[in-house]
Amino acid sequence: MAIPRSVEWKEDSIKILNQQLIPNSVEFLTLETIEDVWDAIKTLKVRGAPAIGIAAAFGLALAGSKFEGEDLQEFHTHIREKSLYLASSRPTAVNLTWALRRLQNKIENAASVNEAKTNLVHEAILISVEDENICYNIGQHALSLFNKNDSVMTICNAGSIATAYYGTALAPFHLAAEVDFPIHVFACETRPLLQGARLTTWELLQSGVNVTLITDSMAAHTMKTKKVDAVIVGADRISANGDTANKIGTYGLAILAKQHGIPFYVAAPLSTFDISLKNGDEIPIEERKEEEILKVGNEWVAPKNTSVYNPAFDVTPAELISGIITEQGIIHETEFDKIPDLFTTKSL
Ligand code: MRU
Repeated sequence: MAIPRSVEWKEDSIKILNQQLIPNSVEFLTLETIEDVWDAIKTLKVRGAPAIGIAAAFGLALAGSKFEGEDLQEFHTHIREKSLYLASSRPTAVNLTWALRRLQNKIENAASVNEAKTNLVHEAILISVEDENICYNIGQHALSLFNKNDSVMTICNAGSIATAYYGTALAPFHLAAEVDFPIHVFACETRPLLQGARLTTWELLQSGVNVTLITDSMAAHTMKTKKVDAVIVGADRISANGDTANKIGTYGLAILAKQHGIPFYVAAPLSTFDISLKNGDEIPIEERKEEEILKVGNEWVAPKNTSVYNPAFDVTPAELISGIITEQGIIHETEFDKIPDLFTTKSL
């Protein structure tokens, strides 16, 4: 069985899986300009915090390689402008600005435009390679929390196609499938854009994971009447105190998990932490266009002039989170006050 991939560097272009079309057709797009990359991120053709970071890094490397001239100062200005442009595509996932900053740091001491161009490409590829290892480690740590035949609920798609490979919240399920460790997954459909129904089911079925789809409104009843041993979700930004922004509906699941005595885990790389923010109130929440709620696919499901509120993410307070699973290990709820230390000592 195969775990799908969604973003690849192709020297003078970027190949992405068009996630808008899954599961009805599996098509790859070639992005040749920075505008293509911005649009792909904005319209969720490429999505998920780590994958957005990787796509943006590749986009900036592409913009660098297209620069004509030898003036290093002009090159720096060009890269700063393109970086701001890419960062404007989506505001919540911090991996986007994290990756862009990492690339910019890499060219600070370049002696020539050519060297800077090469550094950008190398660093972007490195981010992608590292992310695959990071996700593998997150998956192994997460799997240590589950027992054979557990049933685990998730929301949105924090899977392989939202990262370089394996995913964050879905990584333990892929790894379990590889070693014949049966785990059952309840995937919430995730209105309005149905990342759970369209993407998580598609991805898990491909690697042979036993997945059951429910609508978001069935989560409480499912927790009450079925065996749900844990909830695991991804993250778009985690503040210094452990408050976690993730797909809209995550906060509700955390409250429900608390009510039913079910552990609630967040799986995320260290690049998703933003310790410059004291708490989740400071995390910018993206609001998306009204049509995403007024329509399902191409069908209007409400009168066109209905007023709409469409936040794409919510913030789960740290006190509802049992643990945050990173590539370096699990930060248990009693250790959230040590989160800022992780970024000085780099170890758990
Ligand atoms: O709007 P999306 O589909 O990009 O939202 C994605 C999520 O909320 C994911 O859970 C998060 O980015 C983690 S992906 C490993």
